[in-house]
Amino acid sequence: MATLTITDLQVSVEGKPILKGVNLEIKEGEIHALMGPNGSGKSTLAYALAGHPKYEITSGTIEIDGVNVTELDANERARLGMFLAFQYPVTIPGVRVADFLRHAVSNRRDPERKEGENLMPMRDFRKELKARMEELGMDTEFARRYLNDGFSGGEKKRMEILQMAMLQPKFAILDETDSGLDSDAVKVVSEGVNRLSGPEMGVLIITHHERLLEFNKPQFTHVMLAGKIVETGDASLAAELHANGYATIRERHPEEAAEQSSEQEESLASV
Ligand SMILES: Nc1ncnc2c1ncn2[C@@H]1O[C@H](COP(=O)(O)OP(=O)(O)O)[C@@H](O)[C@H]1O
Ligand SMILES: [Mg+2]
Repeated sequence: MATLTITDLQVSVEGKPILKGVNLEIKEGEIHALMGPNGSGKSTLAYALAGHPKYEITSGTIEIDGVNVTELDANERARLGMFLAFQYPVTIPGVRVADFLRHAVSNRRDPERKEGENLMPMRDFRKELKARMEELGMDTEFARRYLNDGFSGGEKKRMEILQMAMLQPKFAILDETDSGLDSDAVKVVSEGVNRLSGPEMGVLIITHHERLLEFNKPQFTHVMLAGKIVETGDASLAAELHANGYATIRERHPEEAAEQSSEQEESLASV
């Protein structure tokens, strides 16, 4: 069974320690929700898992099926089945959705593939792309568009879901805290994750959107405070946090709560 194992993960950004020992295990077929106040380190965990170069792992390990991927770069991790939904939605001039996906899928299917070699045959790729787009109720014209060029919020989310459908990652990390997400975008993600998640994928949803978690009921809810996971519960913990906010969490973890608020003041002061 595919497992993502995060052990005592410590991560710094520009020399500043942000994650202070995160332990988490996600197995295929599981949905985990990660919650926590702003600035607690949720996105940092997502980027560190994906292998973003700015997020320096100073201690601890990330393993996929027992293989230590901590030293691998983002592309190598993606090939092994790690998927972070577009966080920094790049526009790549002149690259169409279909071309982008064909390369990404070829890398995923053949992790040893070298650039320019062994691209998935166009006919097979087209057939598969069409099938996935039909399943997701997407207009096939979308694949001809230039990647993220003038995409609406909902279209960016459709792109993520399509990418996920094509890549079939082992572990999908969705950082959906963006408060700017409109209702169309939330619907696309909710339904897309619901359709794509299954026994062969582990999902980590970082969100405050109640709807997303209603549609995709997590078996585990983790709460982060000051760069640590301070509590883990089931779906009812997410519901409790939606209803009551983080006050009770702060009360139960005064030390981390104090650290969290002083850090927030610091980062506010530095703006
Ligand atoms: N790229 C970055 N550059 C500088 N500081 C960062 C960066 N990313 C995160 N941080 C800092 O790390 C802390 C955690 O941020 P983040 O992971 O974005 O929290 P969350 O996603 O829970 O709101 C914050 O104090 C933030 O200022
Ligand atoms: Mg965030």
